[in-house]
Amino acid sequence: MAVVEKLRGDVKDASLAEQGRARIEWASTFMPVLGQIRDRFAHTKPLAGVRIGACLHVTTETANLVLALKAGGAEVTLCASNPLSTQDDNAAALAAIYDIPTFAIKGEDEKTYYKHIEAVVASKPHMTMDDGCDLVTTIYTKHNHLLKDMIGGCEETTTGVIRLKAMQKDGVLPYPVIAVNNALTKHMFDNRYGTGQSTIDGIIRATNVLLAGHTLVVVGYGWCGRGVASRAKGLGAHVIVTEIDPRKALEALMDGFQVMPMEQAAKAGDIFVTVTGNYHVIREEHFKAMKDGAIVCNSGHFNDELDLDALEKIKVGKDQPRPFIDRYELKDGRKVCILGQGRLINLAAAEGHPAAVMDMSFANQAMAAAHLAQHHQSMEKKVYDVPDHIDEEVAKLKLASMHVNIDTLTPEQEIYMASWSEGT
Ligand SMILES: NC(=O)c1ccc[n+]([C@@H]2O[C@H](COP(=O)([O-])OP(=O)(O)OC[C@H]3O[C@@H](n4cnc5c(N)ncnc54)[C@H](O)[C@@H]3O)[C@@H](O)[C@H]2O)c1
Repeated sequence: MAVVEKLRGDVKDASLAEQGRARIEWASTFMPVLGQIRDRFAHTKPLAGVRIGACLHVTTETANLVLALKAGGAEVTLCASNPLSTQDDNAAALAAIYDIPTFAIKGEDEKTYYKHIEAVVASKPHMTMDDGCDLVTTIYTKHNHLLKDMIGGCEETTTGVIRLKAMQKDGVLPYPVIAVNNALTKHMFDNRYGTGQSTIDGIIRATNVLLAGHTLVVVGYGWCGRGVASRAKGLGAHVIVTEIDPRKALEALMDGFQVMPMEQAAKAGDIFVTVTGNYHVIREEHFKAMKDGAIVCNSGHFNDELDLDALEKIKVGKDQPRPFIDRYELKDGRKVCILGQGRLINLAAAEGHPAAVMDMSFANQAMAAAHLAQHHQSMEKKVYDVPDHIDEEVAKLKLASMHVNIDTLTPEQEIYMASWSEGT
């Protein structure tokens, strides 16, 4: 009961707080790099007095990030960056035990989603931490008066970076933003190995489907697509890739996958995963061509990768045989199963990325926030990459935590690598 009285924010069920605490602590055991940064922050307080508005997937890994920011002196207010990605026990623990105002409920409708973003805006942040750019755009379009006290922001994912660059191009980016996604120690590991494993995990948890012997179509062969394709192949699936970029298509081909247009793949696939960050990549004509029982999901940031409005229009019936499955019946009796309402399947039906990979992504977030706090006065209203020294330090700390040593350049090699005069 005491826990409920202390609660700050809007969460589903405060009585889940202890369960959430146990899971946050479990995740922390796989996040040694973020743990070291948290300990360092506790001494140096690089974020003292900084109010951070965070719109992130409210997972146990995010909880560890928020606690590191708090150790650094920040006041953090948190909401969800997707209506289906919140872990309710974790949100309860943050709000009731760790004293972090948290506004997030798994399954919240769109109105509540935006009400929760507004609650974060009401905390008058000096800095934003976004996953998909919804917080920056809300502040820019509706709360311009906050901009005078704003020092900058960080962005977690590919789609958010694309939106921010579009804002920069239109001359409306309101403050400097660090594209955390662009750090190698983020997208090379999080997007590839994290999305790869957790997307397959989400599909299996939602359906219990056997991947071996089935045909899985990966739509988009970027960082996430490569991860999904290689993990599906490892489980025995026959993988088809669709692409629009000839270089990525060639890469998929040479990695051993079949490549074809979506029009053809629609007929061949048993399971479909979109990871493009693009709009309506699976449409009415594709749904109409699919096999009976086809399973379709998305692991890209927004649910509009699938044209679900078109599917709603052509359906004659719909049921929910299991949680996270909407089964649509078409006129000729064939059925198409959409997982997690087309939202990021790894967060909707599973737990998102494993903590060990979020360790690096969130180490970058924490250090990028500290960098902004220290250097914002000399930064322009631009999208910045994570400074290289931060990216490299994250990799070094991660290797050290895994007890892996690597070589260093000899003095002779350093000279050789810096010179042009040595040739054949
Ligand atoms: N599920 C998660 O947890 C998670 C994690 C990281 C990123 N993401 C999101 O996943 C999406 C992809 O991220 P990424 O880092 O792989 O991006 P990326 O830019 O590396 O890859 C996207 C690929 O999709 C291709 N593509 C675009 N339109 C296409 C179409 N119509 N048909 C086929 N291919 C098409 C592009 O050519 C590109 O190769 C983004 O929305 C990102 O925000 C999700």
